[in-house]
Amino acid sequence: MSRIKNLEDYAVDYRKSVMDPEAFWAAQAERFVWRKRWEEVLNYDFLDYQVEWFKGGQLNITENCLDRHLLHRSDKTAIHWVANDPRDEDRVYTYKQLHQAVCQFSNVLKNNGVQKGDRVCLYMPMVPELAIAVLACARIGAIHSVIFGGFSAQALADRIADAGAKVLLTANFGPRGNKVIPLKSIADEAVEKAGGVEKVIVYQRTTEEVNWVQGRDLWWHEELEKVEVACEAEIMDAEDPLFILYTSGSTGKPKGVMHTTGGYMVYTAYTFRNVFQYEENDVYWCTADIGWITGHSYIVYGPLLEGATSVMFEGIPTYPDAGRFWRIVDRLKVNIFYTAPTAIRALMAQGLEYVELYKLDSLKVLGTVGEPINREAWEWYHLHIGKGRCPIVDTWWQTETGGIMISPIAGVLPTKPTYATLPLPGIQPVLVDAEGNEIEGKGVEGNLCIKYPWPSMIRTTWGDHERCKNTYFSTFKGYYFTGDGCRRDEDGYYRILGRVDDVMNVSGHRLGTAEVENAINMYQGVVESAVVGYPHEIKGQGIYAYVVCDSSKLEVSTISDLKTEIMATVVEKIGKIARPDKVQIVRGLPKTRSGKIMRRILRKIAEGQMDNFGDISTLLDPSIVESIKEGAQKDE
Ligand code: PRX
Repeated sequence: MSRIKNLEDYAVDYRKSVMDPEAFWAAQAERFVWRKRWEEVLNYDFLDYQVEWFKGGQLNITENCLDRHLLHRSDKTAIHWVANDPRDEDRVYTYKQLHQAVCQFSNVLKNNGVQKGDRVCLYMPMVPELAIAVLACARIGAIHSVIFGGFSAQALADRIADAGAKVLLTANFGPRGNKVIPLKSIADEAVEKAGGVEKVIVYQRTTEEVNWVQGRDLWWHEELEKVEVACEAEIMDAEDPLFILYTSGSTGKPKGVMHTTGGYMVYTAYTFRNVFQYEENDVYWCTADIGWITGHSYIVYGPLLEGATSVMFEGIPTYPDAGRFWRIVDRLKVNIFYTAPTAIRALMAQGLEYVELYKLDSLKVLGTVGEPINREAWEWYHLHIGKGRCPIVDTWWQTETGGIMISPIAGVLPTKPTYATLPLPGIQPVLVDAEGNEIEGKGVEGNLCIKYPWPSMIRTTWGDHERCKNTYFSTFKGYYFTGDGCRRDEDGYYRILGRVDDVMNVSGHRLGTAEVENAINMYQGVVESAVVGYPHEIKGQGIYAYVVCDSSKLEVSTISDLKTEIMATVVEKIGKIARPDKVQIVRGLPKTRSGKIMRRILRKIAEGQMDNFGDISTLLDPSIVESIKEGAQKDE
């Protein structure tokens, strides 16, 4: 099916998608290989949440990502992998080779007792084997749950236990910049803590030795030798789970967002094709990690469903220097480049000399995702990377939405710095006020909700459907609530203003304030803590922690030691991504008489605004505010 090519196409498609969503999405679904056609396109209830797309349909998503392309694209590059170390050789997989690798690893999983419906956790570096293993799970109907390689043993253990995984896939080590992450030893600790894992299959990324548990640990390459190459795809129902991906919410415990097969497939392919305007011979590069939703939808599934050539990168933007991205773009003639504002800001701070060394004329489309992009970063990206001629697609979406929701369509919809602009066909955004009334018109702000289902929406939070209902469908009755605040301007364009709940966005990573507080509170001697986000030049938001310690602890430790140890505790419990940027030891927190922490005040102090706190007369002890303020100023 063709792509949206101009404004008129967009208007026509958008209208169709609202007038008759079922016909619209059924037409999109026709493009794929189904083993059995669906009986019903959509069945849903937003009040007592449940949703089903393409019910009765049967398929395997990997037949659509791989087998379907073997006729015409078998020698086309599917994945072009670039190692962390620029001296290491690239690895290239054609569609035929990827298909074979996925089938073979599917047999490894089966050989190790993995069956349809089982959960498999993956804690891996960004190597082709990660994508292969994800697809192998999908091929045999196992539910994959990828955990980002930057999470700590405790965080990994919590996720393994919640998913109830019996197999963990990892690597001995994972190179990242000038560091090497000891994935296997972290995995050992996590498996011990979590329980339930019977097999750990280890990819050998480096030559260093690792600890080995006989009977449980298996080498990836040895397992491959034991199996055949062919593997029939398991036939799945459209609503069978495809994966679980953990993300942070406003309570302490991360939630397992569950996506299913048919709708996710249709939507990720549709959005990939349209937003980026991918054309047959384009080289596409998304710099995300497969441990996040962006990597799932726009490194693995979307591009492969569309038969695209993708770059997959193991390293980081600043290693060995800040020209790394641009060097790869130049060398591989990348046409479509998709990254996070935090990376743009970090590279921008390093100066133009790293950009000017490389030819970037292959670029056609630029994208951003994960957090609001500030105007300076947008302009820099547009001018210095896109040379003023590449549209920037500022794509707003979430782990829960599965795919891009509000975004320019490259070259079709006008762009506007800091605006995600317009909803894609099939997406019906609304702004609602605190009472849940829709705010009509233009030049308005409100809570961003979606009022009609789309195919790749979250189906449940793993093991706790009530939580799913409460989080997304109960704040505003009859709507999916995104947790974001949003402005609709005079042109009807949408601008995401950031989270309105207790979720922070640090370098594009989503973290709950409660999650970080729980970690801090585990440090012995901490009485309580409150964490808020504050504006940070590179990370978008930084983490500011206010911590109350008990007096005995204060007597024996220096403030500076306490801060260091508190930060180390957070790294141990969650991972480096959650390490507070600032820790302030305080004598108390500003609480109302009913015991509620007034975060509004803490946010202001973290931002460096030391007055206009509003009414603080309801505080149990208003003098606390003054002492926190003084402490903050002293710490500067
Ligand atoms: O606040 C929004 C922000 O990231 C949140 C979703 O985070 P996560 O589930 O980790 O998914 C990130 C990748 C899709 C959103 O609620 N966000 C995401 N994209 C944008 C954004 N904020 C502003 N502009 C965006 N383009």
